[in-house]
Amino acid sequence: MKVFTSGIAALGMAVSAYAQNLSYGADNFYRSPNVTVHPITFPTQNNNTIAGNLFTRNNLPLNGNASAPAIVVGHPMGAVKEQSANLYATRLAEQGFITVSLDLPSYGGSSGFPINSVSPELYAEAFSAAVDYLGTQDFVNRTRIGVLGVCGSGGFVVSAAKIDPRIRAIASVSMYDMGAVNRNGLRHSQNITQRQQVIAAAAQQRWNEVDGAGTLYVRGTPLNLTANPVDREFFDFYRTRRGAFVPENSTFELTTARSETSNVRFLNFYPFNDIETISPRPLLFVSGDQAHSREFSEDAYRRAAEPKELYWVPGAGHVDLYDRVELIPWERFYGFFRANL
Ligand SMILES: *[C@@H]1O[C@H](CO)[C@@H](O)[C@H](O)[C@H]1NC(C)=O
Ligand SMILES: *[C@@H]1O[C@H](CO)[C@@H](O)[C@H](O)[C@H]1NC(C)=O
Ligand SMILES: *[C@@H]1O[C@H](CO)[C@@H](O)[C@H](O)[C@H]1NC(C)=O
Ligand SMILES: *[C@@H]1O[C@H](CO)[C@@H](O)[C@H](O)[C@H]1NC(C)=O
Ligand SMILES: *[C@@H]1O[C@H](CO)[C@@H](O)[C@H](O)[C@H]1NC(C)=O
Ligand SMILES: *[C@@H]1O[C@H](CO)[C@@H](O)[C@H](O)[C@H]1NC(C)=O
Ligand SMILES: *[C@@H]1O[C@H](CO)[C@@H](O)[C@H](O)[C@H]1NC(C)=O
Ligand SMILES: *[C@@H]1O[C@H](CO)[C@@H](O)[C@H](O)[C@H]1NC(C)=O
Repeated sequence: MKVFTSGIAALGMAVSAYAQNLSYGADNFYRSPNVTVHPITFPTQNNNTIAGNLFTRNNLPLNGNASAPAIVVGHPMGAVKEQSANLYATRLAEQGFITVSLDLPSYGGSSGFPINSVSPELYAEAFSAAVDYLGTQDFVNRTRIGVLGVCGSGGFVVSAAKIDPRIRAIASVSMYDMGAVNRNGLRHSQNITQRQQVIAAAAQQRWNEVDGAGTLYVRGTPLNLTANPVDREFFDFYRTRRGAFVPENSTFELTTARSETSNVRFLNFYPFNDIETISPRPLLFVSGDQAHSREFSEDAYRRAAEPKELYWVPGAGHVDLYDRVELIPWERFYGFFRANL
């Protein structure tokens, strides 16, 4: 991970300087002719203001019958709702679900300090706050609310569902356990000594910041292409027009950055401990069989109790399932939520 200080101008350069891979119908910014998007905000119990979008199919009667099923969609770690979450929320809304995509606390339009800080407890709370929001709309049936988490949000929706049984069905795609990957690295490539070095660096930076230095950010995806295949996969999405999203007038450089001193909180995050207590509510894990993150879906599936399903998308990698609409197994998600909400 690298430190950055450069401003928004660097993004234009990074976005335009590289080609992108739009195969398999990559369509992160898809808008449906049949779905209306309503920008919303709602509070959490911690008094964070969450920025979200509410998606409703145009011909759906939004009367006071409290009958509609609803789904909350969470974005990849370090991203914003405009990256992958809106796409999933839009496609699910086309099917008649009421959907909400949200920015995790301190990301995108949601409040929280420092900007882009790690706080798994607040992230889980944001999903419960979205359930509060949906359950107080008179067209939503409170007993028919589910969640779908992309990448890091796959772990965050599991942690939310463990303590919030109002969440009735839990799906994830390209799940990342942000606790495990920060403790151990991918496929246990990081040992305890290396972990201790990360912790020591964050502790030193904490001294720097209390002594007056500004917030130090580390980024998950480099600005310049490297040889690392995982970096290259993320780069193709986050650093090209395929998936780069910059809010108008943003002074904050890019998504995927997080404050270094908060990142160590992930070391205390064990989303899959007690995952079996979610039963009998159903869990669906979807992953590419080529995904570098497949160990996390496998681990969660192994530990979960029935009902549970682990669905492999043949040939797909991790980021492919963010936006490649011809690879994403839409019918699995539609069927799962139709059957369980
Ligand atoms: C583009 O992405 C697809 C899906 O991941 C992959 O199969 C293909 O090899 C990629 N093409 C290039 C030129 O990298
Ligand atoms: C939009 O709605 C029309 C009319 O119901 C339907 O024929 C069409 O397939 C829908 N398109 C999408 C993308 O959902
Ligand atoms: C919650 O935050 C809002 C600003 O977003 C503030 O106006 C309000 O006073 C806060 N409420 C409490 C109880 O702190
Ligand atoms: C819902 O409520 C409206 C009036 O509020 C009523 O006309 C309608 O028949 C009800 N049922 C359904 C399924 O929409
Ligand atoms: C809400 O959903 C439950 C099933 O979970 C159903 O029994 C109930 O009739 C629904 N309520 C309305 C108002 O549609
Ligand atoms: C941890 O990994 C580093 C780098 O490969 C190596 O130098 C070190 O000896 C390892 N430490 C332990 C305790 O295995
Ligand atoms: C990244 O690449 C751009 C040109 O595409 C170059 O201007 C910039 O200096 C590079 N940054 C680093 C850190 O290598
Ligand atoms: C961006 O800045 C321009 C010029 O100051 C302003 O007109 C516009 O409203 C701003 N957009 C947002 C979303 O704040």
